[in-house]
Amino acid sequence: MTQQSTIAERKREFSFTHEEFKKLTSLVYSLTGIVLGDHKKDMVYGRLARRLRELGMRSFSQYCDLLDSKRSDDETGFLVNAITTNLTKFYRESHHFESLAAHAQKVTRDRSRLSDKTFLVWSAGCSSGEEPYSIATYLLSKVPSLSSWNFKILATDLDTNMLNKGKAGVYKADAIQSIDEPFKSVISDHCNIRGDSLYIKEKVKNHIHFKQLNLLHQWPMKKKYDVIFCRNVLIYFDTQTKNNLVSRYTDMLRDGGMLCLGHSESLHEKPENLHLHGRTTYFKGEVSS
Ligand SMILES: C[S@@+](CC[C@H](N)C(=O)[O-])C[C@H]1O[C@@H](n2cnc3c(N)ncnc32)[C@H](O)[C@@H]1O
Repeated sequence: MTQQSTIAERKREFSFTHEEFKKLTSLVYSLTGIVLGDHKKDMVYGRLARRLRELGMRSFSQYCDLLDSKRSDDETGFLVNAITTNLTKFYRESHHFESLAAHAQKVTRDRSRLSDKTFLVWSAGCSSGEEPYSIATYLLSKVPSLSSWNFKILATDLDTNMLNKGKAGVYKADAIQSIDEPFKSVISDHCNIRGDSLYIKEKVKNHIHFKQLNLLHQWPMKKKYDVIFCRNVLIYFDTQTKNNLVSRYTDMLRDGGMLCLGHSESLHEKPENLHLHGRTTYFKGEVSS
């Protein structure tokens, strides 16, 4: 233990032993797949201290007892919401959006000859909704025909607080201030600013369905997707969970479908039929231009 952490631990309002930390991290791992190494102890303390205060508790030992008790089902939701890292922003890692529009243009061109006017996107680990709204606004602006298609974005996350924010579609107006062009104009065209708030327009919201889904569990979706975004989610998982998810995503894609991962999530192992085409951008099967 470093001198610094000894001082930090001495200053703590609640006692928090290594065993209690290990108990919480193994519960979080089994519930979410999120791996929390020993260096995350201060983070876990910081995120849960407020919850202990709300519950009028005096120690993490009491909190662990609550999680062991019959009432634990109610509490695990709070635990998961507190532990997940939800950092996101509009048009994050913007290099994906051009390839996304090119893919949608090609699919709509090919499919408009058929009666199948469906284009399905899944934003897996969507946090508070900035990612699915970025996808929707960019596609509606670059491929306008999609507005009359069965163009749906399924936006899923584990954290119910984030999903509620996404469903509301209301953000701070300054959330788009530092976005580069042309993305800033695209999002501005699809929202209303009133006072300090930004309201996503209904015609955009109509294309998005927010739903709670734990990526570790069974996925209830029956249809296959044209595009899957799972960005900055796999980094929290171990290699086995990550490989397993990528293989399941590949199964969920239509032939020729596109998978986008976060910039630090390039794959060392991947299914044979998944091919890299550009930075952290993969396609299922051979892609013709
Ligand atoms: C850092 S955010 C990424 C948000 C967005 N994709 C982006 O790149 O800006 C990671 C999200 O993954 C979600 N997450 C973590 N584990 C999950 C799991 N097992 N199932 C579903 N979502 C999970 C978290 O709740 C969090 O909102």
